[in-house]
Amino acid sequence: MKIVSMRFWTRGGIDKNKALVENLKRCGVIRSRKVAEVMESIDRGLFVTAGNPPYADSPMPIGYNATISAPHMHAMCLELLEDRLQPGMHALDVGSGTGYLTACFTMMVGPGGRAVGVEHIPELVASSIENIRKSAAAPLLENGSLSVHVGDGRLGWAEHAPYDAIHVGAAAPEIPQPLIDQLKPGGRMVIPVGNIFQDLQVVEKKTNGSIDIRTETSVRYVPLTSRESQLRNY
Ligand SMILES: C[S@@+](CC[C@H](N)C(=O)[O-])C[C@H]1O[C@@H](n2cnc3c(N)ncnc32)[C@H](O)[C@@H]1O
Ligand SMILES: *[C@@H]1O[C@H](CO)[C@@H](O)[C@H](O)[C@H]1NC(C)=O
Ligand SMILES: *[C@@H]1O[C@H](CO)[C@@H](O)[C@H](O)[C@H]1NC(C)=O
Ligand SMILES: *[C@@H]1O[C@H](CO)[C@@H](O)[C@H](O)[C@H]1NC(C)=O
Repeated sequence: MKIVSMRFWTRGGIDKNKALVENLKRCGVIRSRKVAEVMESIDRGLFVTAGNPPYADSPMPIGYNATISAPHMHAMCLELLEDRLQPGMHALDVGSGTGYLTACFTMMVGPGGRAVGVEHIPELVASSIENIRKSAAAPLLENGSLSVHVGDGRLGWAEHAPYDAIHVGAAAPEIPQPLIDQLKPGGRMVIPVGNIFQDLQVVEKKTNGSIDIRTETSVRYVPLTSRESQLRNY
């Protein structure tokens, strides 16, 4: 009995995840076929905390004053980074939270590439690894193409630098210099910048090393800050 109902639940989850991706395609947020395939392959239902509707297009609380970002933000960031998430490339996800986007990154860059998550709440790193283990990205975690680390993401993750793609999932008052340093020439970073009013900025490091920054859109993210100030009064 239990097994049968679980299968139905899983089947429904996959269908709802597919419907979510279809909707993002219809709205024009997803334009790349690869991004659609990857978001279809990673079931968002595995990453959203129980009690929240996993396939609704809005952010959901995950504890520790953090959220899983809305599906349309994940899709937008994947689209903005798509040509820097080609097979074999290196990607860094700062503030990896639930691990959802890090899992998408590893599916984009494949077994010959590398996806690295950095998150400063150890409990979220542990639960993100459990989430990923249940997902289609599990084999890449097992053989080391994907790793998630506890650390201050403002320092990046030097071990696997330089990166073709860097995503920052929390808003920085200003762009941290170590992240610019860890960007490969020809690489691209997507980062929300600001305090209350934030811009999603796209930072390009040209092959000659010069930095080009443009604003994509206005956004609202939780702050990229110290663990202490995130957890204060929590
Ligand atoms: C919007 S949330 C999660 C985003 C993630 N992409 C997701 O959808 O699950 C931002 C995350 O950044 C983390 N964070 C904030 N400041 C950080 C820092 N200095 N270093 C590492 N992680 C940080 C928070 O703990 C939170 O998990
Ligand atoms: C990781 O596993 C995949 C298959 O799941 C394989 O193609 C790839 O070569 C492996 N990579 C490493 C570094 O072992
Ligand atoms: C670097 O290349 C860009 C074009 O890719 C150019 O606009 C810029 O002037 C160059 N900067 C230097 C210092 O050569
Ligand atoms: C964290 O949550 C607590 C209680 O919900 C709140 O008082 C505090 O201001 C929050 N901190 C941040 C940085 O949002």
